[in-house]
Amino acid sequence: MNSFEQLKEEAVRLDAADTLAPMRGEYLFPQHDGKDVLYFTGNSLGLQPKGVKQALLQECDDWARFGVEGHMLAERPWLSYHEQFAAPSARLVGALPHEVVVMNQLTVNLHLLLTTFYRPAGKRNKILFEQKPFPSDQYAFESHAQLHGLDPAEVLVELPYSEGRTYHTTEDIERAIEGMGDELALVCFGGVNYFTGQLFDMQRITAAAHAVGAYAGFDLAHAAGNALLHLHDWKVDFACWCSYKYLNSGPGGVSGIYIYEEHTRNASLPRLAGWWGHDKASRFQMKNGFVPIPTAESWQLSNAPIMSMAVHRVALDLFDRVGMAALRAKSEQLTDFLQRVLMTVRTETGWALEVLTPSDPAARGCQLSVVLPGKDRSFVKVLAEAGVVVDWREPNVIRLAPVPMYNRFMDVLELGQLLARFAE
Ligand SMILES: Cc1ncc(COP(=O)(O)O)c(C=O)c1O
Repeated sequence: MNSFEQLKEEAVRLDAADTLAPMRGEYLFPQHDGKDVLYFTGNSLGLQPKGVKQALLQECDDWARFGVEGHMLAERPWLSYHEQFAAPSARLVGALPHEVVVMNQLTVNLHLLLTTFYRPAGKRNKILFEQKPFPSDQYAFESHAQLHGLDPAEVLVELPYSEGRTYHTTEDIERAIEGMGDELALVCFGGVNYFTGQLFDMQRITAAAHAVGAYAGFDLAHAAGNALLHLHDWKVDFACWCSYKYLNSGPGGVSGIYIYEEHTRNASLPRLAGWWGHDKASRFQMKNGFVPIPTAESWQLSNAPIMSMAVHRVALDLFDRVGMAALRAKSEQLTDFLQRVLMTVRTETGWALEVLTPSDPAARGCQLSVVLPGKDRSFVKVLAEAGVVVDWREPNVIRLAPVPMYNRFMDVLELGQLLARFAE
């Protein structure tokens, strides 16, 4: 077992060896007593990249200068603005460029994807999802069941954890899928569950869903920019994500979607249509009759929200500069360090902290969800007054996300020292 002294030496050594350390300088940190806060909520709202203000000013200038002509004449023409995200988004989630598009916001996109991929027919009408999904997803499932005239209580299946567990095993998920067989229309999990931080084996879940004739889709809000993803190779049918968490693209930032290549070419797949999804060559002929672009772009409804996208462009450029492989390598080290720091708090103080997140690095992203016996929500304020930003989930869980893009090992150590100071 490590002592805080040993962990401190290790933090100094790891920070000095961290090749990603300079990336921290690309972000703006909230200040506390003249110092950067210890920020552990990149899983909720990522920090602002320093280049954002200039990118927004550029769009404002182009708008002032060109008015409507900015669609063609802006430094980055608005007409095709979204196209520049295809390659970097594809790299981010392991997709082909024509399988991804950036548009709308997350829950809106989940609805658009459910419209296409939840097509209950006869007894094949059930949706399987993990225990405690993000509420918005659950509301989306519920509303789609109702739109199809079905009773959510009958068709929505929330997989419970097996006895004594705080997360799912892949075997349990596979067994459930197999058991539901031809009653299963769709498996739709979070890629990383927002509450527990569990990273699901999307490849195996997708294969199990396909084996019984169901679609598999994922809400990657907590996975995009956090986990290594290979959506195309895994043959995932669809996915969507937000950009304001790990992707640092600002509050309410644009969302991304992925649709497996084969589906993007299938013009007969039902979808909600809008002019931005229509064949680009004839879009401005303004004729009736929707002709889908044969890429994920055909799920677009509206012209692009340029201001939001300008932020996303700056933020994604930073991901491209580093690459997900390097981020993930640091992330595994950082979260392992957090785990050991938390265990040291436990052994040195006797406070019975419990980590809900799986200890296997392959089954988690950067986040650890920690049960804090004896504390209530007011503890977040105590930490904030000490310059630490964490978030609270009832009844007594803090979610800690050491983000490899800008967190240091020393941040984690200092957090541990503070937790030890406030131990129960
Ligand atoms: C897993 C998950 N799904 C959906 C949402 C809802 O996102 P939005 O408000 O962008 O639709 C969130 C928001 O935090 C989330 O964490």
